[in-house]
Amino acid sequence: MSFRVSVLVSGTGTNLQAILDQLHGRHGIEVVAVASNRPEARALDRAATAGVETAVFEASAHGGREERDLAMADWLAERRVDLVVLAGYMELLCTEFIARFPSRIVNVHPSLLPAFPGIRAIEQALDHGVKVGGVTVHFVDEGVDSGPIILQRAVEVPADRDPAEFESRLHAVEHELLPEAIRLIGAGAVSMDARNPRLVRIERGMAGARRV
Ligand code: GRF
Repeated sequence: MSFRVSVLVSGTGTNLQAILDQLHGRHGIEVVAVASNRPEARALDRAATAGVETAVFEASAHGGREERDLAMADWLAERRVDLVVLAGYMELLCTEFIARFPSRIVNVHPSLLPAFPGIRAIEQALDHGVKVGGVTVHFVDEGVDSGPIILQRAVEVPADRDPAEFESRLHAVEHELLPEAIRLIGAGAVSMDARNPRLVRIERGMAGARRV
């Protein structure tokens, strides 16, 4: 039985593309659903090209954000998804949505959390004068980029602090780290520490194993 992955997107979808290229139909993983809050998201075309079912959930079409989130949760549940991946999904999810998929929602964020949560993380980090930034993949809780950390990797700020170059270094790392985290979860290699609910444990030896 395959590990059924869904992806929520709002924008260009380069992270979705990395997931499709590296994981779809491999490692026992299938991307079975892609949903967006924005009908014009380029990510939807990428999903369609890969033959993955897509849907658009605009708040205005559902009488508000919370109702939209619940409709989207129903759509995902009908597709029996094992994991919900936020890949450039630029809205907060309501409490009930999060409760429907406990420890089953992951997000990628372009900073070393807990530094620089929220929007414009790259700009925040550069304005702060950091010399090293990075990428975090974490479980989603009700806060803004505040859930338990699954994987992190540091990225050096270029010597000339060029924002475009820093951003492209960060994106390249996102495109490795997010698929890696999904693969580890699918392989059953990711668990929460019994004594510290913030601590995510990873059994690296299982990374290549198929989920049972
Ligand atoms: C990524 O930088 C991600 O970290 C942030 O939004 C961006 C999405 O890019 N949350 P893309 O749509 O995957 O190309």
